[in-house]
Amino acid sequence: KGDPRLEAISAAIRVVPDFPKKGIMFQDITTLLLDHKAFKHTIDIFVDRYRDMQISVVAGVEARGFLFGPSIALAIGAKFIPLRKPGKLPGKVISESYELEYGHDRLEMHVGTVEPRERVIIIDDLVATGGTLSAAISLLESQGAEVVECACVIGLPEVKGQHKLKGKPLYVLVEPS
Ligand code: PRP
Repeated sequence: KGDPRLEAISAAIRVVPDFPKKGIMFQDITTLLLDHKAFKHTIDIFVDRYRDMQISVVAGVEARGFLFGPSIALAIGAKFIPLRKPGKLPGKVISESYELEYGHDRLEMHVGTVEPRERVIIIDDLVATGGTLSAAISLLESQGAEVVECACVIGLPEVKGQHKLKGKPLYVLVEPS
């Protein structure tokens, strides 16, 4: 806090009331992507944090984790692994389900993409309940990787999700005002 870059990032995120349904204050990061300075600040903050932590893998959660993860991976010299919704990956996959408000969904990852004990960070745009990130952690850990931290641009303050993140640290840049 006190970092003016975080103010710029907050200001660039559009909040859309009642999307996709009544009562939801949607955090729209497409406006952050339109603001070159704020987008750059976002990537820079993550890169500064992770560049000297011996991270060799950045895993990104479909879909919006794909907008931030690859830039971070390239800058810190790590590989990027996409964690995808079911049925999208053509190779051999492992799969992990997680709870949604209504029903459940699944994330999949190609096997053979991480070595045992590789150090991983997992990136997404937003954490709400933490269910999605917990599934992501399970996928990486099932392959013997070491999940160092989960990182999100936005953390919803009422839930934060830390309790659900299987004991892993969570790093968020901004909370909705
Ligand atoms: C949103 C968001 C996170 C997840 C967070 O994705 O981008 O991935 O929900 O929620 P949680 O912490 O309660 O699990 P969404 O499921 O809308 O998918 P999308 O990015 O493909 O639209």
